[in-house]
Amino acid sequence: MEKILTLFLILFIRFLTTKCDPCLTYKVLDTPNEHTRSVANAALPSPICDNTLEVGWYRVTSYAGERMPTECVYGGMRCGTSFSIWMNGTYPDAGVAKTVQACAAHYDGDCCKYSYDIEVKNCTDYLVYNLVPVSTCYQAYCFGSELACPAGETSDNNGFTPGCKYEPCLEENHQTLDHWERSVNNTEIGNLCDNVLTPGWYRPISAVGNTMPTECPQGGYKCGTSSPIWMDGSYPSSGEIANVTACVGNYNGGCCTSSYDIQVKNCDDFYIYNLKATSGCYQAYCFGTEVKCPVGETSDNGGFTPECEFDPCHSRNYGILVGEMKRSSNYTLQKSDVAIEDSRLTTGWYRIDSVTGNDIVNESVGMMQCGTLYPLWMEGTLPDVSDKTVDRKVCQSGLYSTCDQKYDIKVRNCGNYRTYYLTQLNVDKSAFCFGTFPVPDPTTTTTTTTRRPPPGDHNSSKDDENDKDDKPYIWVIVAMLAVLSTILLAILLVKFFLQRTVSKRAVSFVDVKGKLPTYDEVIQNEKNNRLQMIQTVSPSAPVNQFVGSMTSIPPNSTKMGQMKSY
Ligand SMILES: *[C@@H]1O[C@H](CO)[C@@H](O)[C@H](O)[C@H]1NC(C)=O
Ligand SMILES: *[C@@H]1O[C@H](CO)[C@@H](O)[C@H](O)[C@H]1NC(C)=O
Ligand SMILES: *[C@@H]1O[C@H](CO)[C@@H](O)[C@H](O)[C@H]1NC(C)=O
Ligand SMILES: *[C@@H]1O[C@H](CO)[C@@H](O)[C@H](O)[C@H]1NC(C)=O
Ligand SMILES: *[C@@H]1O[C@H](CO)[C@@H](O)[C@H](O)[C@H]1NC(C)=O
Ligand SMILES: *[C@@H]1O[C@H](CO)[C@@H](O)[C@H](O)[C@H]1NC(C)=O
Ligand SMILES: *[C@@H]1O[C@H](CO)[C@@H](O)[C@H](O)[C@H]1NC(C)=O
Repeated sequence: MEKILTLFLILFIRFLTTKCDPCLTYKVLDTPNEHTRSVANAALPSPICDNTLEVGWYRVTSYAGERMPTECVYGGMRCGTSFSIWMNGTYPDAGVAKTVQACAAHYDGDCCKYSYDIEVKNCTDYLVYNLVPVSTCYQAYCFGSELACPAGETSDNNGFTPGCKYEPCLEENHQTLDHWERSVNNTEIGNLCDNVLTPGWYRPISAVGNTMPTECPQGGYKCGTSSPIWMDGSYPSSGEIANVTACVGNYNGGCCTSSYDIQVKNCDDFYIYNLKATSGCYQAYCFGTEVKCPVGETSDNGGFTPECEFDPCHSRNYGILVGEMKRSSNYTLQKSDVAIEDSRLTTGWYRIDSVTGNDIVNESVGMMQCGTLYPLWMEGTLPDVSDKTVDRKVCQSGLYSTCDQKYDIKVRNCGNYRTYYLTQLNVDKSAFCFGTFPVPDPTTTTTTTTRRPPPGDHNSSKDDENDKDDKPYIWVIVAMLAVLSTILLAILLVKFFLQRTVSKRAVSFVDVKGKLPTYDEVIQNEKNNRLQMIQTVSPSAPVNQFVGSMTSIPPNSTKMGQMKSY
């Protein structure tokens, strides 16, 4: 009864498996670059063993081949194992599956020491095998007959035998040259000299370009050297090598004062050059045509032409706000504070440097935060470095909502920091929020705020406007000064005219007795003054007078003493 049951079960499973086409539902046994199971491969020190293989349909995708050998692997010790399993049978036609005998060859010469019933199906373009686990170790199924090419070689069969050959295009077979100075458009005086170059294949990898110029760099002093070397010849097509002449251009006008036989190979995506050392200095091979971007500009090509553009990450292009800690969204405006006002900010790129954080706040912030009345916070996220310059909106928090009004800013991620294009605001008592950390205790830290404005990309007329907007108090002071000076002038004039009338009156009337001193009083004053003079002078006056009359030598001097002793 049990036997019948198991038979039914087996039949049922068979039925199921045949229903599922193994050409579609298989597992991959060996991936493209594996060649372990190849008949050309010897036994491994740690041999493979298929005792743990799950029963099921397998496909081999290795470039070594997918066919199980149909001849005895005599003596075994191949396919990375000791007992190499081969197929005692023939392959079926397209779409047909058949059962064959898999034999494990032993080193004693027995070609079928162990045998298994396996299935093989021809899926037209490939084969699939229904494999079973082996009974003992080390037995393993063999597939394919090719091997990967040795290091430094390649072949038409995806780097597998047959036809492996040396390939200079392979990374390990050439060196790289990374000198932007070699650009033929580089006219900066340089002293590159290729007399120390080890002969061999080179790939120029600098961002300035990979091609050797095929026209003479007239007049020399290019490519970072005085005698630039160019290529008198033409480039080979894909996969080909061309023998060409490398000509030494000279500063005195010669275009081929000396030459070298070199080779150039087309590796599809780039060229490589089989170069020789130069016989003299300063001679160097030219490569590429691009040049450095002007200072303050950058490009997608690592800072080299083409398409250089303004670089908001270059220190000369942005201003800095240092230590403006109260811009932190954590800080609430205090009564004693003067609100930060970005109506006084010069429009331009800024970098922020504060212990409370250097990035713009991107979460909604209520009124009175960020050291101002109407704080500005950014919608969205900070960009990545690869995003380059992005446009963002900032929201102005106000009486009605945390987004009463929106403004445009630009943001650039410079890696370790961000820069922001901030426009001078047209409203007072409003400022951009930067940083979210609490402002540290002022007793423990002393920070000074400094501002470096961004470089002016605005013209003078705009500057004047800025000044007017910036400093309205100056005009108030000027106006007040003007009013004050007219008042003063008026007072002075009034006084002057009054005095003139008074003195006229004094002459005509003798009623000034009370003001002017009498004759007696004047005499008395004189006397008093003289007395004072004598009293203050008296202690030293007699000596001085005496010495002064005798000689011009000052008192107490040695000469005086000598004179006395004579
Ligand atoms: C291969 O199979 C054939 C027929 O099935 C059999 O006669 C032969 O002995 C087998 N070969 C080996 C080496 O077992
Ligand atoms: C499948 O069989 C056909 C002949 O019917 C043959 O041409 C083809 O090469 C076989 N496919 C494989 C992968 O061996
Ligand atoms: C290039 O020169 C080498 C020897 O340096 C030579 O073997 C090869 O045939 C030449 N190739 C061509 C296309 O002239
Ligand atoms: C390099 O020089 C060539 C020829 O003088 C010129 O056509 C080309 O535009 C230059 N390229 C750059 C990036 O300056
Ligand atoms: C400021 O930060 C402190 C500490 O992280 C926190 O307790 C406080 O609520 C924050 N205040 C505001 C206004 O965000
Ligand atoms: C703020 O920016 C950070 C970093 O860019 C991001 O992870 C976060 O989701 C942003 N928050 C909001 C509210 O958009
Ligand atoms: C100067 O400002 C005017 C108007 O503000 C603008 O149109 C012009 O392009 C500016 N010139 C320069 C050189 O920036």
